[in-house]
Amino acid sequence: MMTQVSRRRFLNTASTLASASSMGFLTSRSVARSKSPNERPSVAVIGCGGQGTGDGRRATNYGDIVAVCDVDTSHSAYAKAAYNRRMSASGRGVKIDVYDDYRAVIDRKDIDAVICGTVDHWHVKISAEALKSGKDVYCEKPLTLTIDEGKIITKVAEETGRILQVGTQQRSDERFLQAVAIAHSGRLGKLKKLTVGLNHNPFSKPVPVVAPPKTLNWDRWKGPTEDVPYRFLKNGKDGQKLVVTLGDGSIDASNCHKEFRWWLQYSGGKMTDWGAHHVDIAQWIINQCGPGQGPVSVEPVMVQAMVPFDERGNPTLDDQYNAPHRFTVHVRFPDDVLMEITSEGRNGILIEGTRGRIFVNRGTIEGKPIEDLGTNPLPGDWLEGIYGGPVVEHVNNFFDCIASRKKPASDVWTHVASINTCHLSNIAIRLNRQIQWNAKNQRIENDAIASSMMKRDFRKGYEIEI
Ligand SMILES: NC(=O)c1ccc[n+]([C@@H]2O[C@H](COP(=O)([O-])OP(=O)(O)OC[C@H]3O[C@@H](n4cnc5c(N)ncnc54)[C@H](O)[C@@H]3O)[C@@H](O)[C@H]2O)c1
Repeated sequence: MMTQVSRRRFLNTASTLASASSMGFLTSRSVARSKSPNERPSVAVIGCGGQGTGDGRRATNYGDIVAVCDVDTSHSAYAKAAYNRRMSASGRGVKIDVYDDYRAVIDRKDIDAVICGTVDHWHVKISAEALKSGKDVYCEKPLTLTIDEGKIITKVAEETGRILQVGTQQRSDERFLQAVAIAHSGRLGKLKKLTVGLNHNPFSKPVPVVAPPKTLNWDRWKGPTEDVPYRFLKNGKDGQKLVVTLGDGSIDASNCHKEFRWWLQYSGGKMTDWGAHHVDIAQWIINQCGPGQGPVSVEPVMVQAMVPFDERGNPTLDDQYNAPHRFTVHVRFPDDVLMEITSEGRNGILIEGTRGRIFVNRGTIEGKPIEDLGTNPLPGDWLEGIYGGPVVEHVNNFFDCIASRKKPASDVWTHVASINTCHLSNIAIRLNRQIQWNAKNQRIENDAIASSMMKRDFRKGYEIEI
C-alpha cells in the first residue's frame, strides 16, 4: 500500500522522465495506470462554480477530492457537500479542506492534481503556479485571456513537464473525432472553407453598482484585472428584461458569477467561450494547431457592438456587457483555407472541401460523406489514429495521463494555437480592421495598437512570475 508521500514521489519521478523528452512533449507510454484505491491521486478543485464543481464531480470517479477553494465561500461549501455525498456513497469518504485563497492549495505538498474552474482571468496564474509546485493541472477553457498568456503557460508547461489538460471536452467526443478523421481521410477533397457558428453574445442595459454578497471576496475575484465596483441586478426587477439572450432571458445580470464571460475585461464573449471548442476542432481539421501554426490574417466583415470601442479597442462604457453582440470574421490560413467565425446561423462547424461537406455540432454529424459511411466505413483503426485509443470521458483522460505521463487529449500547444485565433479575432473586431499574424514568430505585423492588445497589465500584486 503506497502512502501519500510515496505516491507523490512516484508521480514526480514519472514526470521527470517525461519532461526529459524533446521539446517538453510527453511521450512516455511505459507507466501503467494505477488501479489500487490507495493510489488514487489527491485532487483540489479551485473555482467551484458551475463548471468547476461539475469537473470535480467527474474527478471523484478517479481521484480523491481533498480540498476545495473558492473566493465565494457559498460556492466552496456547496462543492464540499456535493463531493462528500458522492465519495461517501461510494465508500470513499475523505476529509475535504476548504480554502478561500488558492495559494494555500499550491503550498500543500500532498496534493497531486488541481482542477482549475475559476473565471478566465485567473486560469494562467493559478495553473502556472500549480504546475511549478509539481502538480498536474486540468484547467477549464479558455486557458488564456491574452496571446501573451499563451506564451507564459506554454513555457511553464514545457519547463515543468507536468500534465496540463485543457477542459475542451469536444476533443474527447467521438462525433467531433469522426469529423476530424473524415476530413483527414481526404473524403471531402481539398478543404476550402470552415464556417464556425458560435451564436450571439447577449447584451444588457446598464447594470447598477451594489454591495457584493457577504460570501464573496470581490477583490480577490478581480485578482489581476482592474479594480472596479461589483454590479448586479436581479433580472425582471420592476418588469425589466435586463439581459437579452438566446434563451429565456431568466438570468440575473452581473459582472461576476457566470456573467463575467460577456465582459472583455474577464473573458472574450462567445468568441473564446465557444470558440475555444469549435475553432479548436476546426483548426485540428486543417492541421493548423501545432506550435508555430495558425492564421495568416484576420478580417472583421460584420460587427454589431452595443458598446462602441475607442480607437485603441477599449469599450467606451463601463456599466454593461461589452462583448460585441454580432460578428463575422474571415480568418485566412495557409494553403488558401478560409475560416469564417460568426455569431450567425447554427452553432457548430460546417466543413467544405472540393468533394463534399459535413456539418458537426454537439447534437449531430451530417452530410453525404456521413451517409456514405454505411457502405464505405472508415478504417477500423481510425480512432487510434486520431485519439490514440478508445475514447474516454475528458476528465478520465486527464487521470489516465497523470498515471501514464502521456500527452493529454487537449494539450497546451494545440489549445494555444487555436485560442490565439479567437484572441486575434477579438482584437480585429475591437479595432474593426484586418490584422496580419505571424504564427511562427507569434506576433502581429505592422500594427502597434493591435500588437499592444496581445497582453494586459496585471494589477499590482497579481503578476505572473515565470
Ligand atoms: N468545458 C466547458 O464546456 C465549460 C462549460 C462552462 C464553463 N466552462 C469554463 O469554466 C470556467 C468557469 O465557468 P462557470 O460557468 O463555472 O463560472 P462561475 O462564475 O459559475 O464559476 C467560477 C468560479 O470561480 C470562482 N473564482 C474566481 N476567482 C477565483 C480564485 N482566484 N480562486 C478561487 N475561486 C475563484 C468564482 O467565485 C466562481 O465560483 C470558465 O472559464 C468557463 O469558460 C467550461
